[in-house]
Amino acid sequence: MDLTITADAAGAALSAADTITEVVRARPDAVLALPTGSTPLPVYRELAGRGTSFAECTVFMLDEHLGADPDEPGSFRVYVREHIVDGLGVPAENLHSLDGRAADPDAECAAYEEAIARAGGLDLAVLGIGPNGHVAFNEPGSDPASRTRVVELATDTAGEKGLTIGIATITDARRILLVATGAAKAPAVAAMVQGPSTPDVPASLLQDHPRLDLILDQAAAADLRRR
Ligand code: GLP
Repeated sequence: MDLTITADAAGAALSAADTITEVVRARPDAVLALPTGSTPLPVYRELAGRGTSFAECTVFMLDEHLGADPDEPGSFRVYVREHIVDGLGVPAENLHSLDGRAADPDAECAAYEEAIARAGGLDLAVLGIGPNGHVAFNEPGSDPASRTRVVELATDTAGEKGLTIGIATITDARRILLVATGAAKAPAVAAMVQGPSTPDVPASLLQDHPRLDLILDQAAAADLRRR
């Protein structure tokens, strides 16, 4: 695990943008998995400002809410159009999202997993982390061998369901970049880095990945013990 700790969230965004730029420069047609959420917004803004070209990249979004109205303001699709298509310039035809309104959500998930494989697998999976250690929508209890599937959501969205790429979909990626900022993420980050590798903390299942970059601001790193 390669750990970078920056002074603040802005610094973490710069560092994450550096890593993503490095991957895309080395391989302009890279296959990326990208998150929604608030953490990556300054990263996307920084990449858009730099003019890093994503014109040949293929992008798979990590997850979606089951039944989500795709055109509702604040929906994942609106986010994706604004930040990934318009912001980064990923061609719409190269962009894949899970359809929360698919008639057969299980078939939708199976087809998504297959599409990732057909694209040659993920060169880079960019992730955030939930306060309970979830990655994408892989909540506590997720199987390390899990693939793209329908899941029950925990915490603030309890009672709802989601569609998410699996833990194994993520660990199959050739490189993983996890970005966490803010004090609310500190306990999850400490459990991910210094706790045992356990489905109780889904992010900890990534610990042994051969190429894992973890970029934190000081607030998110606050609960790490000094070596
Ligand atoms: C959501 C998403 C995750 C995201 C996480 C953290 O539930 N499904 O993919 O990484 O929460 O979001 P944020 O960056 O807004 O804290």
